[in-house]
Amino acid sequence: AAPGDYTGWRVLITAGGTREPLDPVRFLGNRSSGKQGYALAARAAARGALVRLISANVSLPTPEGVEIERVESALEMQQAVREDVGWADLVIMAAAVADFRPAAYAENKIKKTHDAADPEAAPMIALERNPDILAGLVADRGEATKPVIVGFAAETGEPGRSVLELGAEKLARKGCDLLVVNEVGAEKTFGQDENTVHILRGDGQPGLDAGPASKDEIADAILNLAIKVMA
Ligand code: C5P
Repeated sequence: AAPGDYTGWRVLITAGGTREPLDPVRFLGNRSSGKQGYALAARAAARGALVRLISANVSLPTPEGVEIERVESALEMQQAVREDVGWADLVIMAAAVADFRPAAYAENKIKKTHDAADPEAAPMIALERNPDILAGLVADRGEATKPVIVGFAAETGEPGRSVLELGAEKLARKGCDLLVVNEVGAEKTFGQDENTVHILRGDGQPGLDAGPASKDEIADAILNLAIKVMA
């Protein structure tokens, strides 16, 4: 990474994991720590970029020189991203966005019942789809070349299908410019300080593999490829 190579570039980054409210005290969430997104924000700022970070439920210090906006849910994140996308040259969607949210929000705390005839009664939670923020950005961009859009894919693999195959499929489906594919599982990636990724390019040119390395080094590798795509 050349020092200052990002000077003048405007970079919008999402980080963390959304929380989908169920009632005033409960939510559906995920295990994203926000570390990779925060490392991207820190490295982009250190390389000279103007950085806006949309952060969902992360308990990490705000990186120096980074403008932060906090959100909770996927719908709030979508609104924040839409407000800033026109400003950005590069959008990096590192956040783990919930695919589903509770279909109804209970204004009061959901309580257990005390019915002797049915002591095991439990509520059903219906879910509905959240918007795919990333796919929406790609669609709204249309034929324009700005902003360059980077997606993330956290994959566990499937029987007979590698993480890379699933990543290539996701890249085609989402239509973004770069897709950062990482393997997740009980002990992999989420909350860890090291990461191993395959960065795939939407234009068919060769991407690159990075890691195992610190999330700062992974961030630099992603930024190195992104600046090539932007140039
Ligand atoms: O489809 P999947 O959730 O694996 O895609 C991951 C990528 O899509 C990430 O970049 C994530 O930030 C983004 N995403 C999104 N909106 C969603 C779900 C995922 O922008 N509802």
